[in-house]
Amino acid sequence: MVKKNACIFISGKGSNLKNLILRSRDYSFPVSIKLVISDQKKALGLLHAKKNSIPYVIIDTNSRNYENKIIKDLKKHNIYLICLAGYMKILSKKFLKNYGKKIINIHPSLLPKFKGLNTFSRIMKNKEKKTGCTVHYVNEKLDNGKVISQRFFFIESDDDEEKLKIKTQKLEYFVFPESIIKIFRNF
Ligand code: GRF
Repeated sequence: MVKKNACIFISGKGSNLKNLILRSRDYSFPVSIKLVISDQKKALGLLHAKKNSIPYVIIDTNSRNYENKIIKDLKKHNIYLICLAGYMKILSKKFLKNYGKKIINIHPSLLPKFKGLNTFSRIMKNKEKKTGCTVHYVNEKLDNGKVISQRFFFIESDDDEEKLKIKTQKLEYFVFPESIIKIFRNF
């Protein structure tokens, strides 16, 4: 099977990156991870790139036109799919327009509910009955693009923010690869 090249953007722990690297080793998985981009030089997730000999680039988001540098790196590695996995910077409209290929994001809630940050505390405060995660296409509005895949679980009475996070991430490790397979199903 001819795989398309993917790039994973991270800012932190990179547990989704680790999981996607593992899954991408399956013969039938549609993408191969060829590049990791981080806006944080100390992001723990970079270790997964290093361990697996995947090229990585640390972006200085304070430098002017840093998105042009990202585009150059993406072109160099012939990247077809960008997966935002805990990447904390907003991509500009110009970037989204210029890149023109597929960009997807994983968000720890059942979108359109709880867009943005501090999801778990807001979910608890709101006394939600269920929660989960969503993978969606990225557009100019925050956590707003077309949904690709979504899964939920019921919140139990002894769940707190930390437990919700653990349960949500467990689901993410299933939903992110599933979404990538879905995108390429009719390719
Ligand atoms: C994930 O929970 C994702 O939903 C959110 O950021 C978190 C990243 O976690 N967008 P990790 O860095 O993949 O461990």
